[in-house]
Amino acid sequence: MTMTLTEAGLTLADPSAYADEARLHQALSLLRRDEPVHWVEAAGYHPFWAVTRHADIMEIERDHAVFRNAPRPVLAKAETDERMERSRAEGTALRTLIHMDDPQHRVTRAIGADWFKPRAMRAMEQRVRELARQYVDRMSEYGGECDFTTQVATHYPLYVILSLLGLPESDFPRMLKLTQQLFGGTDKEFQRGGTTEDIMATLLDFFTYFHRLTAARRDTPTDDLASAIANARVDGELLSDYDAASYYVIIATAGHDTTSSTISGGLHALIEHPAELARLREDPALLPTAVEEMIRWVTPVKEFMRTAAADTRVNGVAVREGESVLLSYPSANRDEAVFTDPFRFDAGRDPNKHLAFGFGVHYCLGAALARMETRALFDELLPRLDSIELAGTPEWMSTTFVGGLKHLPIRYRLK
Ligand code: HEM
Repeated sequence: MTMTLTEAGLTLADPSAYADEARLHQALSLLRRDEPVHWVEAAGYHPFWAVTRHADIMEIERDHAVFRNAPRPVLAKAETDERMERSRAEGTALRTLIHMDDPQHRVTRAIGADWFKPRAMRAMEQRVRELARQYVDRMSEYGGECDFTTQVATHYPLYVILSLLGLPESDFPRMLKLTQQLFGGTDKEFQRGGTTEDIMATLLDFFTYFHRLTAARRDTPTDDLASAIANARVDGELLSDYDAASYYVIIATAGHDTTSSTISGGLHALIEHPAELARLREDPALLPTAVEEMIRWVTPVKEFMRTAAADTRVNGVAVREGESVLLSYPSANRDEAVFTDPFRFDAGRDPNKHLAFGFGVHYCLGAALARMETRALFDELLPRLDSIELAGTPEWMSTTFVGGLKHLPIRYRLK
């Protein structure tokens, strides 16, 4: 089916387009080729520039003095943008790392940064491996058939991140539900009701839970990340309850659906490319490049936005102060100018300069953790896998922000 540039631009604000990868990539390829900086006016949204080339996205992220995260870090309905604006004026808005710019961003990021450095990851690796093994054992218990997304991939990364935060296991199901409501906000299967009110209600639930956590950790500090956040001082002052709660929210949400989508999508890619699966099983040393390729292939974060703080240009196109640009990571990660044969899943791809974790000062804080978790799961699963195939039709989530497979029915034999 042919598509005009206007139609291609509109797909970026259409959650259902992300559940149909062929249509999405047709639109993104067209935009990359013919109008890589394209103005989109979609009903219900404030207009924005869609930026689809790898080099332009890097350039924008590098120039963080001009391209700011505030006030519009992600694509949302105009009414949600306005509601957030009012909350900000009242001092009750979510203020996470992705809502901040320097200098506030730099000092706030530093509070959690040490917990995600490779050294800290090595210390956690043993625990993560044990969890990975438990989830593969569970696959054995399911008797050769399961929905890999809902029964394995959704739980394992949540368990890891909530353990790192230090939350009690009995609270995990509640966190799972809230995360899915927030991130899967536009998919009918997960949403409360999908309105701005529903999103605000989900946020309020998060805040209420985390306010209590801050108080508890200030009362009795422990050696978990939640304690580090609750007791951190910026210019000698403890974080406000809102800022502490915002920090937990970004860790709990960003660390979860992203990695589970990568794990599900990665397994799906291996099932769809049996030669790559065989290659990886023959040569397990390929696992690090295979994991990187899974992250590129899935690109679970579909976009972030920046807003110009001054008149500027992107790839020769004038962008005025106050206008927003949408950084299309799935498009960057199929850019023919950067990747040889970008639509081929190549377990040994090297180099692989994908932008799935973003770039620059906001580069994903949890990248090392996400890589380690994904590697641990496949390291446990692949040697035990005798056979694997689809047992039904996979389904993708409708979203414009974070997502991937919501159902992956598989049939398998494990050793
Ligand atoms: C930021 C992707 C896993 C925590 C980001 C950004 C992207 C991203 C694209 C924005 C970067 C930018 O603006 O340039 C991913 C992907 C993941 C993943 C693809 C899994 C494969 C995680 C995990 C955590 C995490 C496991 C653990 C807590 C964060 C945080 C930020 C962030 C806190 C905000 C950083 C900032 O604004 O300074 N991530 N992420 N992410 N990610 Fe991840």
